[in-house]
Amino acid sequence: MSLLDNGSSEVINPDTYFQTHKPPRTLIENEIRVKEFVNKHNEARRKIVLITSGGTTVPLENSTVRFIDNFSAGTRGATSAEYPLIILLFDSFQVQFSLQPYSRHYSHSKNCFLDFMELKSDGSIGVSSKYSPKMKAVLEKYQEFKKNETLLFLDFVTVSDYLFLLQSVTKIMSVLKEHAMYYLAAAVSDFFIPAQKMPQHKIQSGGGGLTLTMDQVPKFLKPMVMYWAPRGFTVSFKLETDPALLVDKSRHALTRYGHQIVIANLLDTRKREVILITRDSEFQIKLTEDEIAEGKEIEAKIIPELVKRHDEWIRNADNADL
Ligand code: PMT
Repeated sequence: MSLLDNGSSEVINPDTYFQTHKPPRTLIENEIRVKEFVNKHNEARRKIVLITSGGTTVPLENSTVRFIDNFSAGTRGATSAEYPLIILLFDSFQVQFSLQPYSRHYSHSKNCFLDFMELKSDGSIGVSSKYSPKMKAVLEKYQEFKKNETLLFLDFVTVSDYLFLLQSVTKIMSVLKEHAMYYLAAAVSDFFIPAQKMPQHKIQSGGGGLTLTMDQVPKFLKPMVMYWAPRGFTVSFKLETDPALLVDKSRHALTRYGHQIVIANLLDTRKREVILITRDSEFQIKLTEDEIAEGKEIEAKIIPELVKRHDEWIRNADNADL
């Protein structure tokens, strides 16, 4: 029986996927880092949030020259990872790599990095007085997380890297039971070319156009929720461009995967408006015009709401155990 319920007999089972694809070279080393991080915080009975961020790529050749990537600037994940939580972050690391917490304030700026600096009267170099108040605030937060070791950063490039990491990390985090939150903001490829069907070398362009046939990536949310981390609090995101589809497709995802929340967002408005959807409720989170003008980010409203609901999830589980 397939774990998947999408009406297609051609979709491979997640187990088959892992048996027929090579794990990333760094998987074992990353698993060791994750175990250390999780054990340390678990001993202190702290909650941990896994944030996935950015987009996965799908290579067209085994020795990859060309690939297809999924849209995501990584803003949602990187911004969310700056809140004072214990965080395990998977971040996309592509050629034009996605935003990362803290450095995101400067890395994709149109300014040259030298614009943030100025020559002081004593000949030394310092941060330009124009930028220093904001930089000081970011630096303080950054140093705080470094001191407390509250953020573990792992990167992925391809959809295969992502899926192997997701499976390993969620299984390791399952020791946290209800104290784990899974916040799946990454844009994961829906189609891929299986390794055994991919050409080894660069596809040559002399033969005219290129026709691609791609298989569907198995949906991993279902085995994750059912088997890898069944007691965790799982939040997935749904991105659509057509408002008429958004809520129905999000509800469909909840029923199909059996997790707790889908955060529905539209491509054009994702930075100012989202809907938190549960099996029996819909809750809109929106920035006001004033908040947008002040530079407030919508994650400042999303994260506290999720922390509150996660705490309720833990309380309900504790009460059920009594
Ligand atoms: O980074 P930004 O530019 O700020 O943009 C943020 C965002 C728009 C990318 C983000 O808010 C968002 O919506 N991310 C999810 C994008 C999406 O709709 O992905 P999806 O439809 O491919 O997947 C929906 C869910 O199914 C995801 O939570 C994913 O974990 C899961 N999935 C996806 C593919 C797959 N093979 N298996 C899965 O389980």
